[in-house]
Amino acid sequence: MSDRDERRHLLSIADLDREGLLELLRLADGFKEVAERPIPKVPALRGKTVATLFFEASTRTRLSFETAAKRLSADTMTFTAATSSLSKGESLRDTIETIDAMGVDAMVVRHSSAGAPTRITEWTSASVVNAGDGQHEHPTQAILDCYTIREALGRDDLTGLRVGIVGDIRHSRVARSDVLALDLLGAEVVLVAPRTLLPPSLEGWPAKATADLDDVIDQLDVVYLLRIQRERASAALLPSLDEYHERFGLTRERARRLRESTLVMHPGPMNRGVEIAPEAADLPSSLITRQVRNGVLTRMAILFHLLGSPQGLSAMRGETADA
Ligand code: NCD
Repeated sequence: MSDRDERRHLLSIADLDREGLLELLRLADGFKEVAERPIPKVPALRGKTVATLFFEASTRTRLSFETAAKRLSADTMTFTAATSSLSKGESLRDTIETIDAMGVDAMVVRHSSAGAPTRITEWTSASVVNAGDGQHEHPTQAILDCYTIREALGRDDLTGLRVGIVGDIRHSRVARSDVLALDLLGAEVVLVAPRTLLPPSLEGWPAKATADLDDVIDQLDVVYLLRIQRERASAALLPSLDEYHERFGLTRERARRLRESTLVMHPGPMNRGVEIAPEAADLPSSLITRQVRNGVLTRMAILFHLLGSPQGLSAMRGETADA
C-alpha cells in the first residue's frame, strides 16, 4: 500500500510486502465472522463515502465493492461510464474533479487504460483503489484469491504450493497481480499458455512458463483458469476457441486427471466450454463461488484498512450497525 501525501491507496500488489498482504488477509478473517451475523453490518466506516467509478464493464467487482462498503456502513456513490457525461465529451480529469468536489473518501476505479488509477491519485484527495486497469493489475482480485487459497489450506505460508495459471496471460491483469501476490506468500507459479498469449517478456514475472498443459496438470495443487479476453483482441491470436479448449481448457478428461485435492479457481466471468468444461467448474474442489464470497470480505478489509480508524475496529468487533 503506497503512502503519497499521507493518503493511502491500493494501486498494485507491488505496493505490498508479505506482511502487508498477510495483514489484509487477517483483517478479512475478522469480517468473516461479521458476514455470518443475522445483520451482517458494522458501523466501522459510518460517515465515509465510497465512490465506485467503473469506466469499463463489470458485474461482480463493482457489486462486491458496493456490498463491502455497505456492510461497513459507508455511503456509496456509483458512477458508470455509459450513463455519464463522459459520453458528452467530459475529460477523465474533469469527471474525477467533479466527483472529488462532492466529498468522497475513496474512489474504486476500473479503467481500460493501464495506469489510470495512479493518474487519478493526482486529481483527488480521496484514497484510490485499483479495481482493474487495462492489462496491468487487478490487486483486489489477487488478494481475494490468496485469501481463498489460504482458507482452503488453512495456512499463511504457501511455500511449495504449485499453482498453474492457464490461459490468456498476455492480456490478463489478474495473472500479473496473482503472480506477484502468490510469490509474496511463497507459492511457485507456472504460466500455461500458447506462446501468442504469453507476455512478450517474462521479466518481472516470478514464474515459469510452458505451452503444454498435459505436461504439468497432474503436478498442480491449484489450477487457475483465465478467460480469453476477447475485448482485448486475444481471440485473433488463436486458431479457434474449440482448438483452444482442446489444448488449454480444463476439459472433462483433464479434470479426471487432477488429484482430488487440486483446487480449481477462476476469477469470473467464466466462458464454460472455452477455458473450462461445465462439469469442471462444478467439481467439489472448485473454489469459484467461494472466491466471489471472499471478494466481499477482502474488499471490506481493504476499505477498512484505507479508511478506518482503531476506534472503528473496536466498533466492528463489538457492535452491530443499526443503520
Ligand atoms: C476479471 C477482470 O475484469 O479483470 N474479472 C473480474 O474482475 N472478476 C477477469 C476477466 O474479466 O476475465
